[in-house]
This record gives sequence, structure tokens and C-alpha cells, in this order.
Amino acid sequence: MTRPTERRLKIAVIGGTGDLGRGLAMRWARAGHDITIGSRDGARAAEVANRLNALADTTTIGGMANTDAAGAAELVALTVPYASHGAMLDDIAPHLQGKILIDVTVPLVPPKVRTVILPPEGSAAKAAQERLGDGVKVVSAFQNIAAAHLSDLDHAIDCDVLVCGNDKAARELVIALASDAGMKGWHAGRIANSAVAEAMTSALIFINGHYKINGAGVRITGSVGEAETAD
Ligand SMILES: NC(=O)c1ccc[n+]([C@@H]2O[C@H](COP(=O)([O-])OP(=O)(O)OC[C@H]3O[C@@H](n4cnc5c(N)ncnc54)[C@H](OP(=O)(O)O)[C@@H]3O)[C@@H](O)[C@H]2O)c1
Repeated sequence: MTRPTERRLKIAVIGGTGDLGRGLAMRWARAGHDITIGSRDGARAAEVANRLNALADTTTIGGMANTDAAGAAELVALTVPYASHGAMLDDIAPHLQGKILIDVTVPLVPPKVRTVILPPEGSAAKAAQERLGDGVKVVSAFQNIAAAHLSDLDHAIDCDVLVCGNDKAARELVIALASDAGMKGWHAGRIANSAVAEAMTSALIFINGHYKINGAGVRITGSVGEAETAD
């Protein structure tokens, strides 16, 4: 069962001035959450936040430097390019202890974005979990959602969200946040399984090109039984 979140959350979107972060920020703000978008430049974050509030008809999106945004939030989403993933994790790590980190990173290596290339750790999100340690609950999600669809607030998103992480309750919260943003999330296993979602993106980019689809997505099929497992 997919349920929305039960309370208003204070969420930072690191790199939230970018394509994917802007869409998540607007959709979560519209669902009633307090959002701070982060940037390397706090003034730029504040300026983009104003624009997003105007676009989304909200007042609850603010902007700060990335580390300040991470420090002020109870839950942090990381939405920066893979090339800056490790360095950004190190920058915000002191502000993440005891929190959930939603990692949307796809480890694309331009120009070969249609070919799956995964990092030595197995996936970007697993690398993040290993880098940050057990004090941070890394949950990976949203790798297969086209940023343009997220930012179009009237667009009904035709793609499910595979949610991976070692902590079931943290995954459950991210599934509720996917629901808040108009998507169906699925428990998809421990953080190692993020490799599937991260790799899927290159296949979707290939499919987009081959079939001229504007943002292909994936769906989980099958009827859900009554009982869920404990893990
Ligand atoms: N775009 C998509 O459709 C899509 C879909 C699924 C997943 N993703 C994943 O989402 C993440 C963000 O994608 P995106 O398309 O939103 O990226 P983006 O627009 O290229 O960049 C996002 C933000 O990251 C910051 N940034 C850029 N270079 C940086 C650097 N060297 N160091 C620190 N910060 C830097 C920038 O913010 P400031 O300049 O304000 O600091 C930028 O606005 C990626 O990991 C991507 O794989 C993207």
C-alpha cells in the first residue's frame, strides 16, 4: 500500500537549483513540506527558490548554501551530477548524522550515457552508504524519472520508483514522499539493489533515443498480497 507522509517534513534538496532537484522541490512543497534548496552559491539558491515558489504557487521553498541547507533539514535529498557525488557527500557528511539521505544519483559517465557503467562499489548509492557510515540512512530513489516530467507539475508521471536502502522504515518514508510527489514507490531491497535502478536509467535513455520517446519509464506489475515481509 502506498500512503502519503503523515506530517510536514523539513527537507533539503542539495543541488536543488538543477533539473531534477527543482521538480522534487516544487512537488514536495505543493504537498505541504518545508523545502530548502541548496547550491554552491547561497544567493543563487535563494533566487531559484523564489522562482520555484512562483511556478508552484507555494511559499515554503527557501534557498541556502548546500551545507547550511543540509544542516537545517531533518531529511536531505542529494541531486548533483555523479562527477561531484563523492565531494558533495564529504561536504555535507557532518550535517547528515542521524538523518535519511535520499540519493537520486545515476553514475553516468558522459558521453556514454546509453551504456551502463557502475562504480566499483556496485552502485553510487552503495558507495554513498559506505562513505557515510551507519549513522546515515541512505535510501536511493527517483533515478528513472525524467526531470522534465517532474518539473511539469501537471504531468502525471508514468513511471514507478524503486526504493532501496538498508532500513525499512526509511524506505517507507521515501515511498510516502514519492506518493506526495505523484509517484508510486516500491520497496526494492537493500542499498546494493540500487544498482538495478541506476543501471536502468541508461537502458531508458537508449530506449528514448531508439523509439523517440520523451521520457520512457518503468512499471512494476502483479497484484500485491495482504501481508508484507519484515525486511
Ligand atoms: N536530469 C534527469 O532527468 C535525472 C533523472 C534521474 C536522476 N538524475 C540524477 O539526478 C542528479 C542531478 O541531475 P540533474 O540533471 O538535476 O543535474 P544538473 O542539473 O546538471 O545539476 C544539479 C545541480 O548540481 C550542482 N552542481 C553542478 N556541478 C557541480 C559540481 N561540480 N559540484 C557541486 N555541485 C554541482 C549545480 O548547482 P549549483 O551550481 O547551484 O551549485 C546544479 O544546479 C544526477 O546525479 C542525475 O544522475 C537526473
